[in-house]
Amino acid sequence: MFDLILKNATLPDGRTGLDIACAHGRIAAVERDIAAEARVVIDAKGRLVSPPFVDPHFHMDATLSLGTPRMNVSGTLLEGIALWGELKPVQSVDDIIERALRYCDLAVSMGIGAIRSHVDVCDDALKGVEALLEVRKRVAPYLDLQLVAFPQDGVFRDPTAEANLLRALDMGVDVVGGIPHFERTMQDGAASVTRLCEIAAERGLMVDMHCDESDDPMSRHVETLAYETTRLGLQGRVTGSHLTSMHSMDNYYVSKLIPLMAEAGLHAIPNPLINIMLQGRHDTYPKRRGQTRVPELRAAGITVGFGSDCVMDPWYSLGRADMLDVASMGLHVGQMSSREDMAWCFEAVTTNSAKIMGLESYGLETGDAANMVLLQASDPIEAIRLRPARLAVIRAGEVIARTPETITALDLPDRPQRLDPADYAPVAKT
Ligand code: FE2
Repeated sequence: MFDLILKNATLPDGRTGLDIACAHGRIAAVERDIAAEARVVIDAKGRLVSPPFVDPHFHMDATLSLGTPRMNVSGTLLEGIALWGELKPVQSVDDIIERALRYCDLAVSMGIGAIRSHVDVCDDALKGVEALLEVRKRVAPYLDLQLVAFPQDGVFRDPTAEANLLRALDMGVDVVGGIPHFERTMQDGAASVTRLCEIAAERGLMVDMHCDESDDPMSRHVETLAYETTRLGLQGRVTGSHLTSMHSMDNYYVSKLIPLMAEAGLHAIPNPLINIMLQGRHDTYPKRRGQTRVPELRAAGITVGFGSDCVMDPWYSLGRADMLDVASMGLHVGQMSSREDMAWCFEAVTTNSAKIMGLESYGLETGDAANMVLLQASDPIEAIRLRPARLAVIRAGEVIARTPETITALDLPDRPQRLDPADYAPVAKT
């Protein structure tokens, strides 16, 4: 007797007609026509079943704070940082916990199973750290939450940031963060990368820095990040988030830079929704898009995952925890329109991001954690196109969220009365 069987699933790799059996929190079998019984049986009806969505870049201490204490009028990164500075002193640990838990409810409902959240350590009381460590514990049964110690105001620019960052790591924060382009000088930025990578190497931790989130083509801290990764033997454990200055860099320089990033085994996390909103604000026309060079990074063998970054906070007033919105924006901004490229964009919010986070037992093979999501779509490209209902979200072999099918009742002369948006899939898929 299995705990759960999902019948007639299509997997992201294109395999169809498979049953997925779950027992003791693990996937016990992925085969055709599993005859055994189960406590719960779900008919996938040939629809897409994916491992959970993974959001590799988020700010859970700020989420759902939109409008407190005021709105971001200019819409820029810098006003967002200033606004966050106004909110930090007046919010309590309980406020942060409450908002974060509400966000996690929404994330689970949208099929997200893991989130890497940066947490601001530029607060001597470390309220965000205290709050998100508590949230990490509370959501552990249904959501993997990984925390990054993020010195929002600059690890050198803020006089107490380094001490606070070390305290946050001592308290149990998982990953070392940074923001070199926000330090006072280019030299300080590079020195901050060196110092933070050394802290990670000493403690055996991963690194994930906000790196070169700027339209300045001379913001080249990713070069130092690659150098320090190699020097300290951190290959495969270091991520550059945003990397938007790469959009504006000279092509000749980038032809040297990307191989150095690949050599260092760096990972990259663009955040398409936020950066298409924030970048190019000093341009008139033509306006730069500001997304890092996703196809080129991918072609060099660098693991690229798309992050959502913000939902309803000082930097971004929209968002609904939908990683398919993120994938769709990344696809459009990167002009990744081939069938192969579009399918890859689904990987950028699932398997690639899981790899960057170092998630164990992630996937849909026998022995993997029985975590998955059933979508009202036939394949990954259709999922990005439709951003459809998450019909069932499964964690450790138990259904933890259900959403009804989106079906419209039509009342038109001589036309069908029932419309399922997923029925509009293309006739030919290649
Ligand atoms: Fe961020």
